[in-house]
Amino acid sequence: TFVVTDNCINCKYTDCVAVCPVDAFFEGPNFLAIDPAICIDCALCVPECPADAIVQDTHLTDAQKPYLAINEELAAKWPNIIELKAPPEDADVWNGVPDKLALLEH
Ligand code: SF4
Ligand code: F3S
Repeated sequence: TFVVTDNCINCKYTDCVAVCPVDAFFEGPNFLAIDPAICIDCALCVPECPADAIVQDTHLTDAQKPYLAINEELAAKWPNIIELKAPPEDADVWNGVPDKLALLEH
């Protein structure tokens, strides 16, 4: 599966959902999560993310590894998102800010 990681938080550009062939993305207030039971490992979403936030599970850094369980847990409780929408107005300000996990709203 592919995993949405830290840099999506407060960026949430949603370009990823426009290309996913199986609608694997689920939307929270300031983050998207991929349902690992739905993702077919096509990798199409990876280059679409302006925040470079999507990583294959086998390539997660130690700091990113908690996001595998976070994606699974949050995808199960959030609504499906299938269309691009406008990002937060300050998305570009947050792009690249490290260690945003404490800011994740759910
Ligand atoms: Fe969807 Fe493919 Fe990304 Fe998985 S890797 S979330 S199937 S676009
Ligand atoms: Fe997040 Fe990147 Fe998608 S910032 S919403 S994973 S395009």
